[in-house]
Amino acid sequence: MSWSDWARGPEIAPSLYAADFARLGEQIQEMLDAGVRIFHFDTGDGHFVPPVTIGPIVLESISKLIHDGGAHLDCHLMVEQPERHFEAFAKAGGDSVTVHYEACDDLPAVYEQARALGLGVGLAFNPETSPEDAAAASEGTDFVNCMSIHPGYSGQAFMPEALPRIRRLRELLPPERLIEVDGGVGEENARELRGAGVDVFVAGTSVFGHDDPVQAYRRLADLVA
Ligand code: DX5
Ligand code: ZN
Repeated sequence: MSWSDWARGPEIAPSLYAADFARLGEQIQEMLDAGVRIFHFDTGDGHFVPPVTIGPIVLESISKLIHDGGAHLDCHLMVEQPERHFEAFAKAGGDSVTVHYEACDDLPAVYEQARALGLGVGLAFNPETSPEDAAAASEGTDFVNCMSIHPGYSGQAFMPEALPRIRRLRELLPPERLIEVDGGVGEENARELRGAGVDVFVAGTSVFGHDDPVQAYRRLADLVA
C-alpha cells in the first residue's frame, strides 16, 4: 500500500491541527463517514516552527480509529532532525512522514530511514525555497508538499504565489510523484489549485473552522473532483 493507492484522485486531507481536540475522535469519525482517505497530522517542535503542536502520543490515540475507517495518517514534521522521531511516529500508527527541505542536511539518508520503518515519504518546502531545488531533492519520495503559507499555524491566509510555484513543480516532477498543497486552502482557491496540478489538498480551518465540517469537506471534495 503506497501513496498512489491512497490518493486515487484528488484528495482533501483534513488537517487535525484545526480540529476541536475535546471532540477529536468524534470529528475524525464524521470525516471518515464522509469519505476522507488521508488525514494530515502537524507536528511542530518550537524550533523549526515557533509553536509546539501535537506529537506521537496524540497520534497513538487516534491511529486505530483512522485505520479501522480505511484512511491513512500523514505526519507533517515541522521539526529539526525529523529522523530522530520516525520510529515513534511509526509505532504510534503514522503511515507516512513529510519532512522539510529546509530542516534536513542529507535528504536521501532521511528518506531511507523512513522507508526502513515502512513509512511513506513526502518532502515539504517553504515559500523561500525554489520549486527547482525542491523537485531535485524529492527523488525517492512519494509526494511533494508545496507550502502556501509560512509553516507553523493553522488559519493563515493563502499566499497566491503558490500557484505559479505549483505549476512549475508539476513541470519538473515525474507524473507519478504527487503534489500536495498546505496552508490557506479553501473553496476560493481549490479549483485553481487543482488546475495547477495539485493532487492532495490539506485543509484545516476551511474544514474544522466551518459550522458544518462535513459539509465543508464535501463541498471542497466536489470542487476538485
Ligand atoms: C501549518 C500546517 C498546516 C495547517 C493548515 O503550518 O502545516 O497543515 O494545519 O491549516 P489551514 O488549512 O487552516 O491553513
Ligand atoms: Zn501541515
